[in-house]
Amino acid sequence: MELSNLMVIFGGTGDLTYRKLIPALYNLQHEGLLPENFVLVSVGRRDKTTEEYLVGIEEGIRGNARFPFEEEQWNRLKARIHYYRLPFEDDEAYPEFDNYLCTLEHKYATRGNRMFYLAVAPEYFSVIVDKLQKNGLVREVGAWSRVVIEKPFGKDFASAKELSRHITHVFGEENTYRIDHYLGKEMLQNIMVIRFANAFFEPVWNNKHIDHIQISSTETLGVGDRGGYYENSGALKDMVQNHLLQLLAVTTMEPPIRLDTESIRDEKVKVFKGLKELDEDLVVHNVVRGQYVRGIVDGQEVPGYREEDRVADGSDTETFVALKVEIQNFRWSGVPIYIRTGKRMHHKSIEVSVQFKEMADLLYMKGYQSTAPNMLVIRIQPYEGVSLQFNAKKPGTTNEMVPVKMDFCQNCEIGYSSPEAYERLLFDVMKGDSTLFTRWDEVEYSWRYVDRITQAWAKNKPAFPNYQAGSEGPREAMDLLARDGRKWWTSN
Ligand SMILES: NC(=O)c1ccc[n+]([C@@H]2O[C@H](COP(=O)([O-])OP(=O)(O)OC[C@H]3O[C@@H](n4cnc5c(N)ncnc54)[C@H](OP(=O)(O)O)[C@@H]3O)[C@@H](O)[C@H]2O)c1
Repeated sequence: MELSNLMVIFGGTGDLTYRKLIPALYNLQHEGLLPENFVLVSVGRRDKTTEEYLVGIEEGIRGNARFPFEEEQWNRLKARIHYYRLPFEDDEAYPEFDNYLCTLEHKYATRGNRMFYLAVAPEYFSVIVDKLQKNGLVREVGAWSRVVIEKPFGKDFASAKELSRHITHVFGEENTYRIDHYLGKEMLQNIMVIRFANAFFEPVWNNKHIDHIQISSTETLGVGDRGGYYENSGALKDMVQNHLLQLLAVTTMEPPIRLDTESIRDEKVKVFKGLKELDEDLVVHNVVRGQYVRGIVDGQEVPGYREEDRVADGSDTETFVALKVEIQNFRWSGVPIYIRTGKRMHHKSIEVSVQFKEMADLLYMKGYQSTAPNMLVIRIQPYEGVSLQFNAKKPGTTNEMVPVKMDFCQNCEIGYSSPEAYERLLFDVMKGDSTLFTRWDEVEYSWRYVDRITQAWAKNKPAFPNYQAGSEGPREAMDLLARDGRKWWTSN
C-alpha cells in the first residue's frame, strides 16, 4: 500500500481546516500513522506567509486535537506544512502552482501521489476540479490522484448528479471520496460489528422481534455564524439526506457478502431502494418540520432562529425535522423507523434506539406487571457505548418487575478517547479505502427520497416558529409517535 502523498487542502484558512483537518493530521502524526513521505499544502485566498499560517493552526491544534499538544510532534508536523495563496478562479495561476507542487514532491519524495481536499463552499467544487484537470495537475499514470469533497454534495438530485458527473469525469468514481463524517464516527462503524458479530442480536434484528427503531441527532447549539449557509440548506438537507440516512442504512442493511467496500455499499443502496416512496399526503402525515423561537438552553436565554446572524426576518428554513420512514423489504416490513434532528434542543446526543416487541403475557398470570420494553440503545455522541434494557424481578416477596440496564461506555474511562472521524477518514483516503465514503448511487437515492419532501413542503407555508429553544421540538413531532402509541426515547 502506497501511503506517501502530497495533500492539498483548498480552503486551508477555513474553519473546517482549522478545527478538524489539521488537528486530525496532528493526531495521525501523534499515533505514528502519518506517512514518512508526506507534505501538506494549504491553499487560501489571504496573503500570508507559511510562518504566519503556522501560528494560526498551532492554536487550532491546541484547542481541537484529541492528543495533548507536544512540541516535538508539532515540530515534526509543521516542517511538512506549507501555505500557498491561490484565488480558485485564477486559471493562469495553476501552472505555477503545479510547478510549486512538483518541487515539493521532489523534496519530500511523495512519489507523485496527490490528495486534493476541497474544504470550500460548494460553488467552487467544479471550478477547482476543472482547473486541476485543464492545467494537468491530476496524475493519471504511475501515481494516484484522489479528490475529497465536503458536504453538501448538491442541493437536490439534479444538482448532485451534475456535480458528480463533473468530478468523476476528471477523477473517476474510484478516486472520488464524498465525505460523510458520520461514517467516520467510531460507534457508527461499531453498529456493524455489534449486529454481525453477536449471536444474540442478528437473529432478532427483524420485524418478528423489533417493534420500531429511532434514529436521533439533536444539538443544543443554534446556527451560530453559519446562518448564511443554513438558510440555503435547513435541517433536512444538512442532516437527513446524508448523515441520518447513512445511519439508517448501516442499522438496517443486510449482512454484506464480504466486508469489502463495494459489498457494503451495495447493501446500503438496497436499503435506499427499499424506502417507501413518499407522496404529498405521506409527507403531510409522516414528516414534521420545525423552527426554534427564543428560549432557555442550558440555563441561558438564546435568540430564536429568525434573530440569528445572516438569517432572514421571516425565514421559513427548518431547524428541526422528524419523520417516519418505512423500508419495504422482507426484514423490515411493518417496522417504522422514526428519525429526528434539531438545533437548540433540550440535549445534545446522537443515538440509535431499537425497541423490541413486548413478550407474551405469561407472567401476568402470576401477577407481574409489565414495566418497560426491551431496548438496545447505541450511543454515538457525546458518550460512545451500548446500553441494553431488560426486565428483572424486583428483589423481595412480591411479584414485581423492574427495568434494569446493562451499560457499556466506551469513552467513559479516563484517558480513553476514540479517534476523531476526520482522522480515520483522512487515513482511509491515503490508504485508498473508500468504504466509509458515499458512492454515487447512495447519494442519488437519498436525494431522490429527500427531494419528494422538499417538493411537497414547497406547496405549503409552514407555521414557523413552532418550538421553543431548549425544548424537545415541536408538538407535532411528539404526535407523530403518539399516534402510533409510542414516544421518543431519550437515554441522557
Ligand atoms: N466548518 C465546518 O464545521 C464544516 C462541517 C462540515 C462541512 N463543512 C463544509 O466544508 C466546506 C468549508 O467550510 P468552512 O466552514 O471551512 O468554510 P470557511 O471557513 O468559509 O472557509 C472557506 C475557505 O475557502 C477559501 N476561499 C473562499 N473563496 C476563495 C477563493 N475565491 N479563492 C481562494 N480561496 C477561497 C477561504 O480562504 P480565505 O479565508 O483566505 O478567504 C477559506 O480558506 C464547506 O463546503 C462546508 O459546507 C464545514
